[in-house]
Amino acid sequence: MQRISVIGLGYIGLPTAAMFASHGVKVTGVEINEDICNTINNGGIHIQEPFLADIVRKQVSRGMIKCVTEVKPSEAFLIAVPTPIKQDKTADLSYVVSAGQAVAKVLKPGDLVILESTVPPRCTLDVLLPILEKSRLKAGKDFSLAHCPERVLPGNIIHELKYNDRVIGGINPESAEKSRDLYAAFVKGEMYLTDTITAELCKLMENTYRDVNIALANELARISERLGTNAWDVIKYANKHPRVNIHQPGPGVGGHCLAVDPWFVATAAPDLASIIQLARNTNDFMPSYVAKRVEVLVGPGSKVVVLGCTYKPDVDDLRGSPILDLIKLLGDDYNVTVVDPFVESYNVDVYKAAKKADLIVLGVHHDKFKKINLSKLAEIMNSPVLLDTRNFFSRDKVEQAGFEYHLLGSAKRVKVRAWDTKRKVAASVEKDVRNVLKC
Ligand SMILES: NC(=O)c1ccc[n+]([C@@H]2O[C@H](COP(=O)([O-])OP(=O)(O)OC[C@H]3O[C@@H](n4cnc5c(N)ncnc54)[C@H](O)[C@@H]3O)[C@@H](O)[C@H]2O)c1
Repeated sequence: MQRISVIGLGYIGLPTAAMFASHGVKVTGVEINEDICNTINNGGIHIQEPFLADIVRKQVSRGMIKCVTEVKPSEAFLIAVPTPIKQDKTADLSYVVSAGQAVAKVLKPGDLVILESTVPPRCTLDVLLPILEKSRLKAGKDFSLAHCPERVLPGNIIHELKYNDRVIGGINPESAEKSRDLYAAFVKGEMYLTDTITAELCKLMENTYRDVNIALANELARISERLGTNAWDVIKYANKHPRVNIHQPGPGVGGHCLAVDPWFVATAAPDLASIIQLARNTNDFMPSYVAKRVEVLVGPGSKVVVLGCTYKPDVDDLRGSPILDLIKLLGDDYNVTVVDPFVESYNVDVYKAAKKADLIVLGVHHDKFKKINLSKLAEIMNSPVLLDTRNFFSRDKVEQAGFEYHLLGSAKRVKVRAWDTKRKVAASVEKDVRNVLKC
């Protein structure tokens, strides 16, 4: 194929367009956002992704990528538009619908349509196919249709687009084969051909597996606190078993994939997806659980410094961050200061922020936090107490620096200066956190 259209030039569409273009396939990029379109046509990019800027600049200047705001006739259409989640936890398919409608207007016999967006099971067959058939062409006979989900990791997209294995679900074998032949322009990983529902569920279940496994770790964290042990040790030793891989607990699950995709499965068969929904709710409860620990440690009215607020470490992405939920929960009851070197509005001096603070909560394990001088921090705080939700700091180092160290998921040495609700002070009475945490 000499020319293709990529619809939606975001985190997935633009790198995909860049890969095709740099491997000899001319790309018409379709992007409804005019500003993005202009940026790309001027050789620039609007997202942060290593190596992408150079490839796009070069391919635009060679005439291999051109961006337009409306779908034009082409031989192949790759749809990579957003599929956000709605309030009721179902998928918002409006972008897929409008992209499909635009393609249907220009579709001609022999064309190939590939849906790359992450979608609920049966979406390709039940939503996109009927829209495309409004062209009066018959899917599988006059045109080919496939779902090929994307599994790349932001920050490593260019490498993973080339070397990751792909699952390609066609509405018939010919659709899957045509899609494989197209991706073969640059993909070096294995390409597995299957049907559309398998491909849809495969993508969703990859993230669901991880979300459920994290929920299991979070449940273990709470069980460990009640039973008086350390979940991180339990996980470390359990994972020495050759067939066990328990994930890590934490203050919750965020981002636009892990916290979203399981709902696409759960809402497709709510009565059957009990584990998936339970896992989602377990992970969503973690910010409340951490807030409860904060209350037990220092109590309302205290000054709390939260380290990190992105949804994962070493990125600037705030989407669905459980730490933002935690900050909201602490709300007006606490004097909260957030320090995050990746987020402009929170990129503040940690030592200034911690002045006279009662508690530090490590929310996100950004590598940069390793450079914090803990002794200096302990000196300027009102009461040097640290709650680590990620097992990021070494207990010994933190304690040597003068802190009282608390670890989410660990009841070892967790005698706390419990909050005395009657006297409204953090009393020095030693209380076992197991008896305090009833949630
Ligand atoms: N970002 C990731 O890491 C990642 C990973 C795997 C899968 N996905 C999935 O890929 C899909 C795309 O995600 P993304 O992160 O690239 O989204 P994005 O928001 O970065 O980009 C999507 C782009 O599509 C454009 N758009 C929306 N409707 C359009 C239309 N009708 N015609 C033309 N352009 C249109 C938007 O303006 C936007 O620029 C989603 O389904 C997402 O779940 C994303």
